[in-house]
Amino acid sequence: MVKRRKIYEGKAKILYEGPEPGTLIQYFKDDATAFNNEKRAVLDGKGVLNNRISEFVMMQLNGIGIPTHFLKRINMREQLIREVEIIPLEVICRNVAAGSIAKRLGIEEGTPLPRSIIEFCYKKDELGDPLVSEEHITAFNWATHQEIDDIIAMTLRINDFLTGLFAGAQIKLVDFKVEYGRLYEGEMVRTVLADEISPDSCRLWDMTTGEKLDKDRFRRDLGGVTEAYAEVARRLGIIKEAGGAEILSFSQDKSEE
Ligand code: TMP
Ligand code: ASP
Repeated sequence: MVKRRKIYEGKAKILYEGPEPGTLIQYFKDDATAFNNEKRAVLDGKGVLNNRISEFVMMQLNGIGIPTHFLKRINMREQLIREVEIIPLEVICRNVAAGSIAKRLGIEEGTPLPRSIIEFCYKKDELGDPLVSEEHITAFNWATHQEIDDIIAMTLRINDFLTGLFAGAQIKLVDFKVEYGRLYEGEMVRTVLADEISPDSCRLWDMTTGEKLDKDRFRRDLGGVTEAYAEVARRLGIIKEAGGAEILSFSQDKSEE
Protein backbone atom coordinates (compact mmCIF):
# COMPACT_ATOMS: atom_id res chain seq x y z
CA MET A 1 0.00 0.00 0.00
CA VAL A 2 1.27 3.41 -0.93
CA LYS A 3 0.85 6.21 1.60
CA ARG A 4 -0.72 9.17 -0.12
CA ARG A 5 -0.59 12.77 0.89
CA LYS A 6 -3.84 13.96 2.43
CA ILE A 7 -4.68 17.44 1.17
CA TYR A 8 -7.90 18.05 3.09
CA GLU A 9 -10.37 16.14 5.25
CA GLY A 10 -13.98 17.26 5.42
CA LYS A 11 -16.97 15.77 7.23
CA ALA A 12 -17.91 13.29 4.49
CA LYS A 13 -14.92 13.25 2.14
CA ILE A 14 -11.14 13.23 2.05
CA LEU A 15 -8.99 14.74 -0.70
CA TYR A 16 -5.66 13.11 -1.52
CA GLU A 17 -2.92 14.19 -3.86
CA GLY A 18 -3.66 12.88 -7.36
CA PRO A 19 -1.42 10.91 -9.72
CA GLU A 20 -0.63 13.97 -11.86
CA PRO A 21 -0.26 17.68 -11.12
CA GLY A 22 -3.64 19.39 -11.23
CA THR A 23 -5.51 16.27 -10.13
CA LEU A 24 -6.80 15.04 -6.77
CA ILE A 25 -8.44 11.89 -5.48
CA GLN A 26 -11.78 12.41 -3.75
CA TYR A 27 -12.54 9.65 -1.19
CA PHE A 28 -16.13 9.23 0.05
CA LYS A 29 -16.39 8.31 3.76
CA ASP A 30 -19.33 6.60 5.45
CA ASP A 31 -19.49 9.41 8.02
CA ALA A 32 -22.67 11.43 8.26
CA THR A 33 -22.98 14.70 10.14
CA ALA A 34 -25.80 17.17 10.53
CA PHE A 35 -26.42 20.51 12.21
CA ASN A 36 -22.80 21.47 11.76
CA ASN A 37 -21.29 18.35 13.28
CA GLU A 38 -23.60 18.19 16.33
CA LYS A 39 -25.11 14.92 15.16
CA ARG A 40 -22.79 12.20 13.91
CA ALA A 41 -22.96 8.62 12.70
CA VAL A 42 -21.20 6.13 10.48
CA LEU A 43 -23.59 4.71 7.90
CA ASP A 44 -22.16 1.57 6.29
CA GLY A 45 -22.13 1.86 2.54
CA LYS A 46 -23.13 5.56 2.30
CA GLY A 47 -19.77 6.60 0.84
CA VAL A 48 -19.94 3.94 -1.84
CA LEU A 49 -23.44 4.96 -2.84
CA ASN A 50 -22.60 8.68 -2.90
CA ASN A 51 -19.51 7.98 -5.00
CA ARG A 52 -21.61 6.10 -7.55
CA ILE A 53 -24.53 8.55 -7.56
CA SER A 54 -22.27 11.60 -7.79
CA GLU A 55 -20.28 9.98 -10.63
CA PHE A 56 -23.51 9.33 -12.51
CA VAL A 57 -24.84 12.85 -12.03
CA MET A 58 -21.54 14.58 -12.85
CA MET A 59 -21.17 12.52 -16.05
CA GLN A 60 -24.70 13.41 -17.12
CA LEU A 61 -23.97 17.09 -16.45
CA ASN A 62 -20.66 16.89 -18.37
CA GLY A 63 -22.75 15.44 -21.18
CA ILE A 64 -24.91 18.56 -21.41
CA GLY A 65 -21.90 20.87 -21.33
CA ILE A 66 -21.72 21.83 -17.66
CA PRO A 67 -18.01 21.96 -16.81
CA THR A 68 -17.24 19.87 -13.72
CA HIS A 69 -14.19 18.81 -11.73
CA PHE A 70 -15.05 15.12 -12.29
CA LEU A 71 -12.62 13.04 -14.39
CA LYS A 72 -13.36 9.39 -13.60
CA ARG A 73 -14.30 6.98 -10.85
CA ILE A 74 -11.31 4.96 -9.67
CA ASN A 75 -12.92 2.42 -7.33
CA MET A 76 -15.92 2.00 -5.02
CA ARG A 77 -14.99 4.94 -2.81
CA GLU A 78 -12.76 7.17 -4.91
CA GLN A 79 -12.86 9.38 -7.94
CA LEU A 80 -10.21 11.29 -9.84
CA ILE A 81 -11.01 14.99 -10.01
CA ARG A 82 -9.41 18.17 -11.27
CA GLU A 83 -7.83 20.31 -8.59
CA VAL A 84 -9.76 23.57 -8.27
CA GLU A 85 -9.79 26.50 -5.89
CA ILE A 86 -13.10 26.16 -4.07
CA ILE A 87 -15.25 29.30 -4.09
CA PRO A 88 -16.34 29.57 -0.42
CA LEU A 89 -20.08 29.45 -1.14
CA GLU A 90 -22.77 26.83 -0.71
CA VAL A 91 -25.15 27.48 -3.58
CA ILE A 92 -28.65 26.24 -2.81
CA CYS A 93 -31.41 25.92 -5.39
CA ARG A 94 -34.97 25.31 -4.21
CA ASN A 95 -38.12 24.27 -6.06
CA VAL A 96 -40.31 23.35 -3.08
CA ALA A 97 -40.18 24.81 0.43
CA ALA A 98 -38.37 22.52 2.89
CA GLY A 99 -35.74 22.70 5.61
CA SER A 100 -34.30 26.08 6.47
CA ILE A 101 -36.42 28.19 4.07
CA ALA A 102 -39.63 26.65 5.44
CA LYS A 103 -38.51 27.51 8.97
CA ARG A 104 -37.04 30.94 8.20
CA LEU A 105 -39.99 32.25 6.17
CA GLY A 106 -42.79 30.30 7.85
CA ILE A 107 -43.78 28.37 4.72
CA GLU A 108 -45.29 24.92 5.14
CA GLU A 109 -42.90 22.21 4.02
CA GLY A 110 -43.96 20.83 0.65
CA THR A 111 -45.33 24.12 -0.69
CA PRO A 112 -44.17 24.65 -4.28
CA LEU A 113 -42.21 27.90 -4.61
CA PRO A 114 -43.45 30.53 -7.11
CA ARG A 115 -40.21 29.97 -9.04
CA SER A 116 -36.86 28.29 -8.44
CA ILE A 117 -34.95 30.25 -5.81
CA ILE A 118 -31.17 30.41 -5.46
CA GLU A 119 -29.58 31.17 -2.10
CA PHE A 120 -25.94 31.61 -1.13
CA CYS A 121 -24.38 30.57 2.15
CA TYR A 122 -20.85 31.51 3.16
CA LYS A 123 -18.91 28.27 3.60
CA LYS A 124 -17.56 28.63 7.13
CA ASP A 125 -18.20 25.81 9.61
CA GLU A 126 -17.34 27.97 12.65
CA LEU A 127 -20.21 30.29 11.69
CA GLY A 128 -22.62 27.53 10.67
CA ASP A 129 -22.55 28.52 6.97
CA PRO A 130 -24.65 31.72 7.23
CA LEU A 131 -26.97 32.89 4.47
CA VAL A 132 -25.39 35.81 2.59
CA SER A 133 -26.36 38.12 -0.27
CA GLU A 134 -24.52 39.01 -3.48
CA GLU A 135 -23.53 42.26 -1.76
CA HIS A 136 -21.61 40.32 0.90
CA ILE A 137 -20.06 38.03 -1.71
CA THR A 138 -18.63 40.82 -3.84
CA ALA A 139 -17.79 43.19 -0.98
CA PHE A 140 -15.71 40.52 0.77
CA ASN A 141 -14.26 39.25 -2.53
CA TRP A 142 -15.51 35.69 -2.12
CA ALA A 143 -16.48 35.77 -5.80
CA THR A 144 -16.71 38.34 -8.60
CA HIS A 145 -19.90 39.61 -10.26
CA GLN A 146 -18.97 37.56 -13.33
CA GLU A 147 -18.52 34.40 -11.24
CA ILE A 148 -21.88 34.96 -9.54
CA ASP A 149 -23.55 35.34 -12.95
CA ASP A 150 -21.90 32.12 -14.18
CA ILE A 151 -22.84 30.30 -10.97
CA ILE A 152 -26.50 31.35 -11.20
CA ALA A 153 -26.76 30.37 -14.87
CA MET A 154 -25.11 26.98 -14.31
CA THR A 155 -27.14 26.25 -11.18
CA LEU A 156 -30.42 26.94 -12.99
CA ARG A 157 -29.36 24.68 -15.88
CA ILE A 158 -28.38 21.96 -13.40
CA ASN A 159 -31.76 22.36 -11.69
CA ASP A 160 -33.70 22.05 -14.97
CA PHE A 161 -31.73 19.03 -16.07
CA LEU A 162 -31.75 17.21 -12.72
CA THR A 163 -35.46 17.92 -12.17
CA GLY A 164 -36.11 15.97 -15.38
CA LEU A 165 -33.57 13.26 -14.64
CA PHE A 166 -35.06 12.55 -11.20
CA ALA A 167 -38.65 12.88 -12.46
CA GLY A 168 -37.85 10.02 -14.84
CA ALA A 169 -37.08 7.99 -11.71
CA GLN A 170 -40.35 9.07 -10.00
CA ILE A 171 -38.39 11.39 -7.69
CA LYS A 172 -39.13 15.06 -6.98
CA LEU A 173 -36.04 17.29 -6.75
CA VAL A 174 -37.10 19.53 -3.85
CA ASP A 175 -33.77 21.34 -3.44
CA PHE A 176 -30.04 20.81 -3.67
CA LYS A 177 -26.71 22.37 -2.72
CA VAL A 178 -23.74 22.71 -5.04
CA GLU A 179 -20.26 24.13 -4.81
CA TYR A 180 -18.08 25.62 -7.51
CA GLY A 181 -14.35 25.98 -8.00
CA ARG A 182 -11.89 27.97 -10.07
CA LEU A 183 -10.03 25.91 -12.61
CA TYR A 184 -6.79 27.58 -13.68
CA GLU A 185 -5.75 26.77 -17.25
CA GLY A 186 -2.71 28.86 -18.13
CA GLU A 187 -3.83 32.49 -18.19
CA MET A 188 -7.48 31.47 -18.08
CA VAL A 189 -9.70 30.78 -15.10
CA ARG A 190 -12.98 28.91 -15.47
CA THR A 191 -15.79 28.33 -12.98
CA VAL A 192 -16.58 24.61 -12.74
CA LEU A 193 -18.94 22.49 -10.67
CA ALA A 194 -17.06 20.80 -7.83
CA ASP A 195 -17.72 18.73 -4.67
CA GLU A 196 -20.53 16.16 -5.08
CA ILE A 197 -24.19 15.82 -5.96
CA SER A 198 -25.76 13.02 -3.93
CA PRO A 199 -28.61 12.38 -1.49
CA ASP A 200 -26.36 14.05 1.12
CA SER A 201 -26.68 17.34 -0.75
CA CYS A 202 -30.19 17.12 -2.24
CA ARG A 203 -33.74 16.73 -0.99
CA LEU A 204 -35.36 13.94 -2.98
CA TRP A 205 -38.98 12.91 -2.39
CA ASP A 206 -40.82 10.00 -3.91
CA MET A 207 -43.11 11.57 -6.51
CA THR A 208 -46.26 9.78 -5.35
CA THR A 209 -45.82 8.94 -1.66
CA GLY A 210 -43.63 11.92 -0.69
CA GLU A 211 -41.29 9.51 1.12
CA LYS A 212 -37.92 11.12 1.83
CA LEU A 213 -35.01 9.51 -0.03
CA ASP A 214 -32.20 11.77 1.20
CA LYS A 215 -30.17 12.91 4.20
CA ASP A 216 -33.26 14.23 5.98
CA ARG A 217 -33.79 10.56 6.98
CA PHE A 218 -30.64 10.97 9.07
CA ARG A 219 -31.24 14.56 10.20
CA ARG A 220 -34.77 13.69 11.38
CA ASP A 221 -34.07 10.18 12.73
CA LEU A 222 -36.34 8.48 10.21
CA GLY A 223 -34.06 5.43 9.81
CA GLY A 224 -33.33 3.54 6.60
CA VAL A 225 -30.80 6.12 5.38
CA THR A 226 -28.54 3.95 3.20
CA GLU A 227 -31.56 1.94 2.04
CA ALA A 228 -33.07 5.20 0.73
CA TYR A 229 -29.78 6.17 -1.00
CA ALA A 230 -29.66 2.68 -2.55
CA GLU A 231 -33.23 3.15 -3.76
CA VAL A 232 -32.20 6.39 -5.51
CA ALA A 233 -29.25 4.56 -7.12
CA ARG A 234 -31.51 1.69 -8.17
CA ARG A 235 -34.12 4.00 -9.70
CA LEU A 236 -31.44 5.86 -11.65
CA GLY A 237 -30.24 2.51 -13.00
CA ILE A 238 -26.86 2.74 -11.24
CA ILE A 239 -27.28 -0.45 -9.19
CA LYS A 240 -29.49 -3.43 -9.77
CA GLU A 241 -31.21 -4.02 -6.45
CA ALA A 242 -31.86 -2.02 -3.30
CA GLY A 243 -30.69 -3.39 0.02
CA GLY A 244 -29.37 -6.62 -1.48
CA ALA A 245 -26.03 -8.35 -1.65
CA GLU A 246 -24.60 -5.58 -3.82
CA ILE A 247 -24.90 -3.01 -1.01
CA LEU A 248 -23.43 -5.38 1.56
CA SER A 249 -20.40 -5.92 -0.62
CA PHE A 250 -20.16 -2.12 -1.07
CA SER A 251 -20.14 -1.46 2.65
CA GLN A 252 -17.32 -3.91 3.29
CA ASP A 253 -15.07 -2.15 0.80
CA LYS A 254 -13.27 0.57 2.76
CA SER A 255 -10.10 0.39 0.71
CA GLU A 256 -8.35 3.68 0.10
CA GLU A 257 -6.27 2.27 -2.72
P1 TMP B 1 -31.43 23.68 4.16
O1 TMP B 1 -32.90 23.68 3.87
O2 TMP B 1 -31.08 22.98 5.43
O3 TMP B 1 -30.82 25.04 4.05
O4 TMP B 1 -30.75 22.79 3.01
C1 TMP B 1 -30.92 23.10 1.64
C2 TMP B 1 -30.25 22.02 0.78
O5 TMP B 1 -28.86 22.03 0.96
C3 TMP B 1 -30.70 20.60 1.10
O6 TMP B 1 -30.81 19.88 -0.12
C4 TMP B 1 -29.59 20.03 1.92
C5 TMP B 1 -28.39 20.77 1.42
N1 TMP B 1 -27.40 21.03 2.46
C6 TMP B 1 -26.09 20.58 2.29
O7 TMP B 1 -25.77 19.92 1.30
N2 TMP B 1 -25.19 20.87 3.27
C7 TMP B 1 -25.49 21.59 4.38
O8 TMP B 1 -24.62 21.81 5.22
C8 TMP B 1 -26.85 22.04 4.53
C9 TMP B 1 -27.24 22.85 5.75
C10 TMP B 1 -27.75 21.76 3.56
N1 ASP C 1 -23.37 18.98 6.36
C1 ASP C 1 -23.79 19.75 7.47
C2 ASP C 1 -23.11 19.27 8.76
O1 ASP C 1 -22.56 18.68 9.22
C3 ASP C 1 -25.21 19.90 7.73
C4 ASP C 1 -26.28 19.15 7.01
O2 ASP C 1 -26.07 18.57 5.94
O3 ASP C 1 -27.39 19.19 7.53
O4 ASP C 1 -23.05 19.34 9.70
